[in-house]
Amino acid sequence: MTKVLTTLSPFAEDVMQGLHADNKCLPSKYFYDAKGDKLFQQIMHLDEYYLTRKELEIFKTHKDAILRAINGTETFRIIELGAGDGLKTKVLLKHFMEAKVDFTYTPVDISGNVLSILESNLKKEIPGLKIESYEGDYFDALAEIAESPEKDIVFFLGSNVGNFSESEAVSFLSKLQNFLKKGDLLFMGVDLKKDPSIILNAYNDSQGVTREFNLNLLDRINDELGADFDRNQFLHYPYYNPHTGECRSYLISKIDQVVNLMDEKVHFGAWEAIFMEISKKYDHKQLTKLAAASAFSIKQDFLDSESWFADVLWEKG
Ligand code: AVI
Repeated sequence: MTKVLTTLSPFAEDVMQGLHADNKCLPSKYFYDAKGDKLFQQIMHLDEYYLTRKELEIFKTHKDAILRAINGTETFRIIELGAGDGLKTKVLLKHFMEAKVDFTYTPVDISGNVLSILESNLKKEIPGLKIESYEGDYFDALAEIAESPEKDIVFFLGSNVGNFSESEAVSFLSKLQNFLKKGDLLFMGVDLKKDPSIILNAYNDSQGVTREFNLNLLDRINDELGADFDRNQFLHYPYYNPHTGECRSYLISKIDQVVNLMDEKVHFGAWEAIFMEISKKYDHKQLTKLAAASAFSIKQDFLDSESWFADVLWEKG
């Protein structure tokens, strides 16, 4: 009999691999389907989720200092990785336009839909803004657009770097280096260590939106891969380690159960966990180490009034 070889999508492959690991895990990059995008928008408006508010405060307070730090008088290009709705970036873009500096804004996002909404909003709100968006994977886009004559400033905001472990962050930033020229800059949003209960509440909000954000990935696996997860049999459990700065979210099986997934059976023992997401918080020592390990030199830090969040400016040497 001929065996039919079917190729799995990267999503299916990652899910299969993660759920067959000794310590089960699912990659949090798959949180962001249409429903997940909406839930994340909701999260960003929660009181407990301080990150967005704090980064916005930094931009509003330090927009002039940020402009002075990133630019002399030369023309530059802002490449924003994971642009999203541009809510915060808009504050800086408006300010740069008012200051009459010559720059192009190049948002990169995996979602074409997100980009076309962003582009039409920005065109209305900031007339005259030069915008060239790229849909796709960050490094595919960078490969296509690198080697520009002007100075590039890569924006990687919102503590997106926190969704990497420390070693993944070093690999990501080192890979990013390959696309930059000497003197190009990285402007990166980083969540800082603080009172652990403030951090934990941000990932365990009272309205249960973050819980829903995690459980939505089980729904997505059911819808797209024909699995039969019963979301009611899983508990959302975020946990913060003040030593490492890692806030890790888990979904924990409340019972001994079997889930059907693509002709296979995945067994969960009672209280067995699926590791869903890391949201790492840094201190200054760890940030210095990260910059050195990824061969960036630190230029300047911009902080909010309580030092809960930082936007760091690093330079390729
Ligand atoms: C996108 N990222 C920086 C968010 C974070 O804080 O780790 C995703 C998120 N997960 C739960 N709430 C928000």
